[in-house]
Amino acid sequence: MANLVSNSPEGDLPGKPTSASRTTLSHIMTASHTNLLGTVHGGVIMKLVDDAAGAVAGRHSGGPAVTASMDEMAFLEPVHVGDLVHVQAQCNWTGRSSMEIGVRVLAERWNESTPATHVGSAYLVFAAVDGDGRPRRVPPVLPETEKDKRRFEEAQIRRTHRLARRRAIKELRAKRAADGIED
Ligand SMILES: CC(C)(COP(=O)(O)OP(=O)(O)OC[C@H]1O[C@@H](n2cnc3c(N)ncnc32)[C@H](O)[C@@H]1OP(=O)(O)O)[C@@H](O)C(=O)NCCC(=O)NCCS
Repeated sequence: MANLVSNSPEGDLPGKPTSASRTTLSHIMTASHTNLLGTVHGGVIMKLVDDAAGAVAGRHSGGPAVTASMDEMAFLEPVHVGDLVHVQAQCNWTGRSSMEIGVRVLAERWNESTPATHVGSAYLVFAAVDGDGRPRRVPPVLPETEKDKRRFEEAQIRRTHRLARRRAIKELRAKRAADGIED
């Protein structure tokens, strides 16, 4: 159903500023979140990242939105039991029906007033969908600060690379199939 966008009146929807959907999700890490090494499991952080990004995508698009892809999840520092993790998410960029959500993960000790450490970052693409799961149009995001504008421009670069990579892989598979190669 590529490029079918439902419920889309002609013309652009009114834009929405970045701050309208920016969200922070905070969570204390406990023993149930650990991996075999005793630090917090990366999958626990990824779940929180997806949750926070999903909230931003839903708020920005004004309805349901699904995770289309998650890329560049970087784990910079280990997270420990007793850390209060803050997952900050915002809409960096919008296309026709998709949104890039940037997420920054910070951790601080739950009972100390030391500055929080930047422990991870991720970029996710969400697609806004209608009740039938078909992509629907999203309002353009309106970057407000210089940081928002830089993030918008960087997101456009990532978008270009994602599309080019998908296209190149599709073309390679089509060529191999045309050459009669089975794998
Ligand atoms: C994401 C989904 C709605 C896209 O549907 P589709 O039929 O491929 O529709 P389109 O090709 O028109 O893509 C819609 C938008 O998403 C973007 N998109 C789709 N797949 C993408 C991917 N893998 N990475 C980045 N962007 C993607 C497209 O570029 C398009 O953006 P645009 O409208 O802003 O130009 C569909 O693949 C889906 O429902 N996936 C499952 C999502 C899900 O269940 N997530 C939770 C996992 S448990």
